[in-house]
Amino acid sequence: MAQVFDRSSNALARFSLVLTGLIVISLGVALDQLQRSPWVTRQGQRPDQPIPFSHKHHVEGLGLQCQYCHVQVEKAAYAGIPPTKTCINCHAQIWTNAQLLEPVRQSWATGASIQWIRVHDLPDYVYFNHDIHVNKGIGCASCHGRVDEMPLMYQQNTLQMEWCLNCHRNPAVNLRPVAEIYNMAWAGPSSDKPVWCSSTTKGGATAQNVSCVSSDPGKNGVEVASLEGAPEGPGKTKSSTLGPLMGVTVPASYQKFTSQADLGKYLTSQYHIRTPNELSSCETCHR
Ligand code: HEC
Ligand code: HEC
Ligand code: HEC
Ligand code: HEC
Ligand code: HEC
Repeated sequence: MAQVFDRSSNALARFSLVLTGLIVISLGVALDQLQRSPWVTRQGQRPDQPIPFSHKHHVEGLGLQCQYCHVQVEKAAYAGIPPTKTCINCHAQIWTNAQLLEPVRQSWATGASIQWIRVHDLPDYVYFNHDIHVNKGIGCASCHGRVDEMPLMYQQNTLQMEWCLNCHRNPAVNLRPVAEIYNMAWAGPSSDKPVWCSSTTKGGATAQNVSCVSSDPGKNGVEVASLEGAPEGPGKTKSSTLGPLMGVTVPASYQKFTSQADLGKYLTSQYHIRTPNELSSCETCHR
C-alpha cells in the first residue's frame, strides 16, 4: 500500500508543532508586555486637557500648596479636582483676556464645570483612599512623582497591583513625617541632614502626634511649632500638662535619625503601620 504521508511530512508535523508552541509562548510574552506597557497603563501620557494647566507654574512658580486646590486629600478617599471658582479667585484679575483661559471664563459664566480628563483612574474593583496614605506618612511625590516640575500632568507610576504591593510589602522605606507630605523634594534623612523626632502623646499615637524637626532641638533658639508657649524647652525629659496644652504631653526626648532605614522603623511603630502580610492580603484592596 502506498504511503499517504512520506517521511518528510512527519518532520513537517513535528516542526509545525514546535512552531505553534513558539507562537503561543511569544503571544503570551507579548500580551504580558502589552499589559505592562504605557499604552495600557497610561503611564507618562499627557491627555489633551481643555486647558493646558501647569502644575509647574502654579506650584513651583507661585508656591501654591497642593491642598489649596485638592482640598479633600487629607480627609477623603478622593483628592478632588478644584471647581472653577478656585481658578477664578485669581484669574478674575490675572490673565483675564488670555485665550488659553477662555474655557475657565465660559465655565464660570455658564456654571458648567470644566471637563478635565482623568489622568489616574484605577478600575472600580480596587479600593483606594488618599486619607489613610497621607495621614500615615506617604508623600504625594512617592506616588505621583515631582508634580511641581510637571508643565502638564501625567501618571508617573503604573498604578498596577505589583506597584501597590511593592510598597505594601515594605512601607518603611517610604514613610516620612506627616509635616513633609507636601514636600516634593523630600529625600529622607542622611548624616548631612539628620531629622529629630519625638512623640507628643503617650498611648494612641497617631501620625499627627509625632513631630519631627530638621534642626537640632537641643540647640538654643530652636522652636518646636507644636510646643509654642511651653515653658520647658524641647529636649527636656520631664513631662507636664500645661494650661493651654491640656492633655498634651511635652515630648519625652528627641531621637536623632541619620538614615531612612532607622526613621522608617521608628515611624512604622509610631504610626502603627500594619504588617506587610496584612497590607498585602487581597481584602485590603479588593473588598
Ligand atoms: C491651582 C490649583 C492646583 C494646585 C495648587 C495643585 N493642583 Fe493638582 N490639579 C489641578 C487641576 C485643575 C487638575 C486637573 C487638570 C490636570 O490633570 O492637569 C489637577 C490634577 C492633578 C492630578 C491628576 C488628577 C487626575 O486626573 O488623575 C494630580 C495627581 C495632582 N493634581 C496632584 C497635585 C499635587 C501633588 C499638588 C501639589 C504639589 C497639586 N496637584 C497642586 C489643580 C491644582
Ligand atoms: C493663586 C492664584 C492662581 C490660581 C488659584 C490659579 N492661577 Fe492660573 N495663573 C496664575 C498666575 C499668576 C499665572 C501667570 C503665571 C506665569 O506666567 O508665570 C497663571 C497662569 C495660568 C495659565 C497660563 C499658562 C501658564 O501656566 O502660565 C493658565 C492656563 C492657568 N493659569 C490656568 C489656571 C486654572 C485652570 C486654574 C484653576 C484650576 C488656575 N489657573 C488657578 C495664578 C493663579
Ligand atoms: C499611595 C499612593 C498615593 C499617594 C500618597 C497620593 N496619591 Fe493621589 N492618587 C493615587 C491613586 C492610585 C489615584 C487614582 C485613584 C482612583 O482612580 O480612584 C490618585 C488620584 C489623585 C487625584 C485625582 C482625583 C482623585 O482623587 O482621584 C489627585 C488630584 C491626587 N491623587 C492628588 C494627590 C495629592 C495632592 C497627594 C498628596 C497629598 C496625593 N495624591 C497622594 C495615589 C496616591
Ligand atoms: C509608597 C507606599 C504605598 C503605595 C505605593 C501604596 N500604598 Fe496603600 N498603604 C500604604 C501605607 C503606609 C498604608 C497604611 C498602613 C496602615 O495603616 O497599616 C496603606 C494602606 C492602604 C489601604 C488600607 C486602607 C484602610 O482604610 O484600611 C488600602 C486599601 C491601600 N493602601 C490601597 C492601595 C492601593 C490600591 C495602592 C495602589 C494603587 C496602594 N495602596 C499603594 C502605602 C502605600
Ligand atoms: C495593595 C493593593 C492590592 C492588594 C493587596 C491586592 N491587589 Fe489585586 N489589584 C490591585 C490593583 C491596583 C489592581 C488593578 C491593576 C490594573 O489596573 O492593572 C488589581 C487587580 C487585580 C486583578 C485583576 C487582574 C490583574 O492582574 O490586572 C486580580 C485578579 C487581582 N487583583 C487579585 C488579587 C488577589 C488574589 C490578591 C491577594 C493575593 C490581590 N489582588 C491583592 C491592588 C491590590
